[in-house]
Amino acid sequence: MVKANGNYLKLPGSYLFSTIGKKVREYSAANPEAKIIRLGIGDVTQPIAPAIIEAMHKAVDEMGNAETFKGYAPDLGYEFLRNTIAENDYKARGCNIEADEIFVSDGAKCDCSNIQEIFSLDNKIAVCDPVYPVYVDSNVMAGRAGDYNAKTETWSDVIYMPCTADNGFAPQIPDKTPDLIYLCFPNNPTGATITKAQLQEWVDYANKVGAVILYDAAYEAYISEENVPHSIYECEGARTCAIEFRSFSKNAGFTGVRLGFTVIPKELKAGDVALHGLWARRHGTKYNGAPYIIQRAGEAVYSAAGKEQLKAQVAYYMNNAKYIYEGLKGAGFTVSGGVNAPYIWLKTPNNMTSWEFFDYLLEKVQVVGTPGAGFGPSGEGYFRLTAFGTYENTVAAVDRIKNAGL
Ligand SMILES: Cc1ncc(COP(=O)(O)O)c(C=O)c1O
Repeated sequence: MVKANGNYLKLPGSYLFSTIGKKVREYSAANPEAKIIRLGIGDVTQPIAPAIIEAMHKAVDEMGNAETFKGYAPDLGYEFLRNTIAENDYKARGCNIEADEIFVSDGAKCDCSNIQEIFSLDNKIAVCDPVYPVYVDSNVMAGRAGDYNAKTETWSDVIYMPCTADNGFAPQIPDKTPDLIYLCFPNNPTGATITKAQLQEWVDYANKVGAVILYDAAYEAYISEENVPHSIYECEGARTCAIEFRSFSKNAGFTGVRLGFTVIPKELKAGDVALHGLWARRHGTKYNGAPYIIQRAGEAVYSAAGKEQLKAQVAYYMNNAKYIYEGLKGAGFTVSGGVNAPYIWLKTPNNMTSWEFFDYLLEKVQVVGTPGAGFGPSGEGYFRLTAFGTYENTVAAVDRIKNAGL
């Protein structure tokens, strides 16, 4: 008789954002007149920039013409996009990454959850705590995480690297040696970054112990400070130990358009196996390429007009981040993040748990954020607010929180 994949059955409860969605729906149903402001899920609100819309329209027209129609896209992405990415995101920053080391996809979530497939099941993973839940859950589904301990909310075969106020929300090299190290900077959920020198220490460590760093740079566009690296390949030696994930969701508002890419340098090996070839094989077998129209939209992100328009979009969100950060700090809350990232990491007041604070804000002032505990045990006592709302909603939400009687 058919059996379900038992690894899926090990996953506790529902995905964080489903739980939040359910709570908000229930509250809305009971209070239909309530005007809820959502600063929870990291979804963008600004429309796609005009230069990108123009490129999409042009590509749509090409699809309606027999001479310019495109069928299946190349597995690994169109060369026009891969060349543009290599030039703008890497060569322009002094990173030695070639177009054929870039694998275009429909977003970073799929890539950073699928990448574990090309590694052995007995590899040990290390994750930051708190963490973007996808890294852990995808390893649970694969059967690499061991058993769940409901009391500690941790998995037996996962190495957790606590990121707390004491260490500036930066992970420390773990006592146990991992094989795969998930790093995400600028960080979701804490909004923290590490310096190039700190990232270099991770690269040196990974090369020393023969580990691979899975580096998620989905929020790279929000970096404003000089000494924060935009890519792990700015560090010496990263070509032999790092895979990098990028997304067009947050720098260009593609959360509903869908585009991302993964970089695997040719030198990167597990033992004597080149990982570039394995990912190419995986991509070729299980994926049929991001749509032509969307890849043209991605190319327009790097046009002069696209760059200018997106700089303004990022500045719009970062102005929200500043408003949240300064407003709540001024009101006596303990806040961090929000400088190189669109996330503000707030210490919950009055020793509330993060879910208690979530319920309090929803019920008292109808503001929705994300409870830190949903990102891992070290997230308990914290709360994430995103800067991706409209300016008007952001201002209203901050005012409401200030007047929530806390
Ligand atoms: C750290 C991180 N990586 C990846 C993603 C997903 O990106 P995409 O929309 O490209 O799938 C997100 C989305 O919130 C994220 O926070």
